[in-house]
Parts: sequence; C-alpha cells; structure tokens
Amino acid sequence: MTVSIGILGLGAVGTLMAHHWQQHCLYALTRQQQEASCRLEDEGSLATLHLPAWQGESLDWLLVCTKAAATLDALQLWRPRLAAVKRLLLLQNGMGQHQQVQQWLDQQGLSCELWAAISTEGAWRRDDGVIVRAGKGEILAGRIPISINSEKSPDTTVTAPAPCKTVDNIQQYQREKLAVNAVINPLTALYRCRNGELLEHPDYYPHFKALCAEIGDLYQQLGWPLAFDPLTRISAVAKATATNRSSTLQDHLAGRPDELAYITGYLLEQAAAATIELPLCAQLWQQVRGEPHPATLRATSNPVIP
Ligand code: PAF
Repeated sequence: MTVSIGILGLGAVGTLMAHHWQQHCLYALTRQQQEASCRLEDEGSLATLHLPAWQGESLDWLLVCTKAAATLDALQLWRPRLAAVKRLLLLQNGMGQHQQVQQWLDQQGLSCELWAAISTEGAWRRDDGVIVRAGKGEILAGRIPISINSEKSPDTTVTAPAPCKTVDNIQQYQREKLAVNAVINPLTALYRCRNGELLEHPDYYPHFKALCAEIGDLYQQLGWPLAFDPLTRISAVAKATATNRSSTLQDHLAGRPDELAYITGYLLEQAAAATIELPLCAQLWQQVRGEPHPATLRATSNPVIP
C-alpha cells in the first residue's frame, strides 16, 4: 500500500529512508520550504530522488531525522501545517526528546500519534554531498505509549512502512540502543578514535570495560532489563563498526552540536532522579563538555539527609 510520508531532516539517515520508501508518495520538509534531491550511493551505484516540497498535503507519516536536540525547533517551524499529520516518527539517537515532543504536542493541542524508531543501518555524507550507504541493518519502529512513562503496550494495528519492522515495546529497544551509544559515542569523542580502537588500545579498553559495567549496573538498579550482557554486546557493535567514526565523533569533527545530552545526559538525569551515582558517565560528560552536567550538580547540592 502506498502511503504519504514527509521527511524532515534529509541528512544521511533521512536520505537513506527516502530511498527505502521511494515507492511511496514522499515530500521534503526543508528549512527553505523547497523541493529536495537526495543522492545515495549503495554498493557502488548512485541513485538520485527528487522530493517535492510539502505544501500541507495530508501525511500518514512525518519522519523526523534531525538531531535530537533540534527536534522541537524543527517541528515549531512547521507548526501551522502539523494538523495534516497523522503520525510523527522520530528516527534519532538518544532518549528524552520523545517526552519533550509529547509534551509539546499536548500543549499545542495536536493529536497526532508519536512513534519512535531506531536503526542499525549505516550511512555517511561524502564531501560532494552524496550519502554513502555503509552497512545494512534493521529499523525497528513502535508507537510511544500515550503516557511516555507507562510500560503498557501500545496499539499495534497500524504498522510502519517497510522496511521498518513494527514492534510493540519500542522503549525496550531504545534503551538497549542507548546502552550501546552511551559507551561508544562519548568514548570515541573523548579519544577521537574510530569505534574499533576502543577494543584495541591499551588505555581505552579498560575505560570501555568499566563504562559497560557502570551502565549495566545502572540498568539493573533502574529495573530496565537488558536482553544481553553489556560488555559482550557493546564489544560486538564496536567490532562490527570498527572502521566507523561514531555519530558523536563525526559531529565533533564537523563542529556540529552533538546528541550527548540525549545519551549520557539522559542517563545522568535518570540516575539523579533515582539517586544513583554514575561517576564514569559524570566524569566523561565533564571531560567532553568541559563542565559538569546539571544533574550531577543538583545531586551534589542536594545531599540525601539520612
Ligand atoms: O551513533 C553511532 O555512531 C552508532 O549508533 C553506533 C552504533 C555507535 C555506531 O557508530
């Protein structure tokens, strides 16, 4: 079945998704409100797609692939037309932005469904602007429960367009991906190294191992079950993506804002709310950002009185 899909954020991931969905009725939501061309190189062959500018036509899906921190500003820009959107699908790294978007939708009186997706597909932008598909993976999507903190399974009668696989507990998969990102992304940014070097370098590996353990403990204390042993899984991801520069390192090298507020920062917020110490994450944040995370400052300025 053909559906109508708008794409907001035509970077590497947005372009990859446009090519996956080329049989659907696609629209571009660019800052300049203009049509867009998306060029993708996949296994050596180059394909170009032309997406018309979205003029407010009814959308079954609005895919948001901006950086997590840019989500609300990007949506705000399109606010006058959002009543025409049935479902918002956020395909981004990190957690916490979904909560912010749901609150904003409620404030705005917008009733579109909120969905989240995570992807293990790889793509990067070459200097000439062409997006290069780096690795095949899986895209999982699911509806965020109405109350974002509820563990209740959402209605799954609607499914996201293939190749997205619709799952009924996307939060679980998001947390699993978050554990991976919370180790690989800040460490590669700190050491300015490729993912695989975290496993090989005699100074980086002990740090990697200790961080996996800290995050595993945190998940246990928060009651967030993991379907894997953190060290085993995160090592496997670092090995499978050994030659990649993580998205955070790419952001730093390009001088762009990164998503660590929605990765390490999100975990620090969750830990502080549950009065759990997270010393390695707190230290990493401080090393990468040059200042303590606000959640760690709150924790130290509000000592728990026995
Ligand atoms: O953010 C990233 O770069 C990726 O999610 C991952 C899995 C860390 C691989 O580089």
